[in-house]
Amino acid sequence: MFYTPLPNDDGDVDSNAKAHHRAEKRRALKSHFSRLFAVLLLMYFAFTGLRSVLRLSKTTSFRGSLSSGCHSAQRNASTKAAGSSSSSLPTHYQLPSGDRIPSVALGVWKAGKGEVGTAVKACNNPNTRRLVAYSTDRQHLSPATVILTNEEEVGQAIRESGITRSDIWLTSKLWNNFHAPEDVESALDDSLNKLGTEYLDLYLMHWPIAFEKEPGPDGNSIYAENLSENPYPTWQKLEEMVEKGKVRNIGISNFNIRRIQNLTANPLKVQPAVNQVELNFWNPQPELVKWSKENGLLLEAYSPLGSNNQVGNTLRIPEVKNIADKLGITPAQAVISWHVQRGTIVLPKSVTPSRIEENLQVTALPQDLFEKLEAAAAAHPPQRVVNPSKSWGLNFDVFEY
Ligand SMILES: NC(=O)c1ccc[n+]([C@@H]2O[C@H](COP(=O)([O-])OP(=O)(O)OC[C@H]3O[C@@H](n4cnc5c(N)ncnc54)[C@H](OP(=O)(O)O)[C@@H]3O)[C@@H](O)[C@H]2O)c1
Repeated sequence: MFYTPLPNDDGDVDSNAKAHHRAEKRRALKSHFSRLFAVLLLMYFAFTGLRSVLRLSKTTSFRGSLSSGCHSAQRNASTKAAGSSSSSLPTHYQLPSGDRIPSVALGVWKAGKGEVGTAVKACNNPNTRRLVAYSTDRQHLSPATVILTNEEEVGQAIRESGITRSDIWLTSKLWNNFHAPEDVESALDDSLNKLGTEYLDLYLMHWPIAFEKEPGPDGNSIYAENLSENPYPTWQKLEEMVEKGKVRNIGISNFNIRRIQNLTANPLKVQPAVNQVELNFWNPQPELVKWSKENGLLLEAYSPLGSNNQVGNTLRIPEVKNIADKLGITPAQAVISWHVQRGTIVLPKSVTPSRIEENLQVTALPQDLFEKLEAAAAAHPPQRVVNPSKSWGLNFDVFEY
């Protein structure tokens, strides 16, 4: 057994003084170590506390980043997500302009009259309103007739709901019969007026196919070969719209790689910000996803759940259900998260308030589950939801040629 002998009491002052001195030294050493230990303990708590605060701010950034106001003021670099196994997925991607586009946005194509407004107003819920971005669409009634059924309704609903313009990402598209440079600005102005806004965040060339402005005597669209094969004049006019401040970003939709290169071979002043294409389990287009990533062109996934007629089947896919079960999320959330993890923007359409809220909650998928779903999507022949080539009377497939 070890013990520290006490100074004896035999009157030996010197040895007592020495013993006292030694005891003092031990006490000083002891208190020095306790202080050091306390400091180390404090540092540990400060560090772990900071880490959890950081983690918290990361998981809440989906709400926080949009609610902090104008997207144009948020010009920080975005996080790339594709194949990521990190604990969070990006809430935004940064465009060449510096604007930050939300990674999940509400689509309103095929939303019936009255439903768009309901969807917009549903988002007036303080928890979700600032998370939502609107992607407006033209609705096609016949091959030649295109009417803007929902831009007015979206505009009205935004005004009525009191959502600040800068809290919403607004996208619209230039329809095929307005590709002639002299028709672009009036088509855009029409959208701006209907939406009741001074600018769009993103304006897309809807198709790489141009029509003559007026349909033929049979009411069908007339394919305009020159402007289809050379989209540069249309693009130059769109660039002018950016210069005028009527749109902040311009992009393309339904362009295959040949058509993208055909456009970007020109001396563009403004690069396409995005390419909006069909991407879902049934038509996952892994080559286009890979090429776009390698070439720095952001993809937007339309019909991401397989659209109205396939959504039921999509949500029943075993790999999707497995992810949902394992992570405690819904099948729709599993699919939307998969899209974001592939590095794309996702545009799920819903007019159901609870689904709108559900669809905005994305979660990083474990790498093995992500890869299983990716493999299952690529394992069957691609099957498109949208292909108007035949109904437009084209003698080629718009996606193949
Ligand atoms: N660029 C183009 O050429 C092009 C072409 C097509 C589409 N798009 C864009 O892509 C957007 C979405 O595409 P989409 O409408 O074809 O298909 P989608 O988003 O894949 O599917 C929409 C269907 O899914 C249902 N749904 C949504 N969330 C759900 C959930 N959480 N659980 C169960 N069902 C759910 C919707 O029902 P409810 O609405 O009843 O909730 C609707 O029936 C369009 O709005 C449009 O903006 C672009």
